[in-house]
Amino acid sequence: MPEKVLTNEQISRMVDTSDSWIFDRTGIKSRRIASDDETASGMAEIAARQAIEAAACNPEDIDLIIVATGTPDRVYPSTGCLLQQRLGIKNCVAFDIQAACSGSIFALSIADQYIKSGAAKKVLVVGSEICSRIVDWADRSTCILFGDGAGAVLLGASSETGILSTHIHSDGEYEDLLYCPNPQAASGTNRQGAGYIAMRGNEVFKVAVNTLGRIVDETLDANSMDKSDIDWLVPHQANIRIIVATAKKLKMSMDHVVVTLETQGNTSSASVLLAFNEAVRDGRIQRGQVVLLEAFGAGFTWGSALIKY
Ligand code: COA
Repeated sequence: MPEKVLTNEQISRMVDTSDSWIFDRTGIKSRRIASDDETASGMAEIAARQAIEAAACNPEDIDLIIVATGTPDRVYPSTGCLLQQRLGIKNCVAFDIQAACSGSIFALSIADQYIKSGAAKKVLVVGSEICSRIVDWADRSTCILFGDGAGAVLLGASSETGILSTHIHSDGEYEDLLYCPNPQAASGTNRQGAGYIAMRGNEVFKVAVNTLGRIVDETLDANSMDKSDIDWLVPHQANIRIIVATAKKLKMSMDHVVVTLETQGNTSSASVLLAFNEAVRDGRIQRGQVVLLEAFGAGFTWGSALIKY
């Protein structure tokens, strides 16, 4: 996480809002904001090095790097290639995937397919986002929500633990409800627009709640599991009310739901990995437990990963 903290109080001096409005509607109190010299690849490097250390892995053994980001340093090379350069790994493949806030789940799904097919043995998955650079700080309906950060995991083949299944989906019909234009690639009059997040929050909220409810059923059915088999829910951190609705669907007490958004806000594709990291490192998630990761984002995109840790 970047060091700089931006509180609701501080935002309420920038736009017409209040700490209580933001907290009551979203569950967010503060978020981290990258400094001018921080980049998605720089934050990705820090998270990646922590994951490599935790896995006691030789970086040279990594044969695939997947970075999920909607805020890449450059249009190209990919943030994955920039991360590969930063880590000094010569012999691996690196690329980005763009699935907005579902990015890390999509990346986990790709990594899982590569490992299960035998095409890769060690895969570094990173979600890294500088949302603060694509937020309109004059728009109170969006600027209160997002934050910056990066999370990473290192995956390796194992018959004992790991990803039980992943489920990813998209529906491009909903483009208008949540998007971020790319003025650089637009032509003519479209070029005038700023590259800021545009969202119809209320409508996004409703689709997110319904969709995440369905992905819970799909994931449990695919594994012939019952709700009670899930030890932990690690959801995308968009809004506490969306998270509570998913926990309710699972009949799960909030004590078994990892929530980081109060101090991090929505860090898009980084959020699930950041939350997973926090709960593993503070000892809540224990070896052998079953963990459901899920996310929903622009596209719309949505997905889940069921893990035996
Ligand atoms: N402070 C105070 N008032 C605000 C405000 C703010 N920051 N943002 C919006 N409002 C106002 C609106 O202008 C509106 O006023 P009006 O009734 O006079 O028109 C009122 O609050 C209600 O707006 P609405 O958009 O219906 O609020 P909401 O309860 O849906 O909460 C969100 C807004 C954005 C918090 C909520 O819709 C949400 O979190 N949606 C999901 C967004 C999301 O997760 N996106 C990422 C997906 S990965």
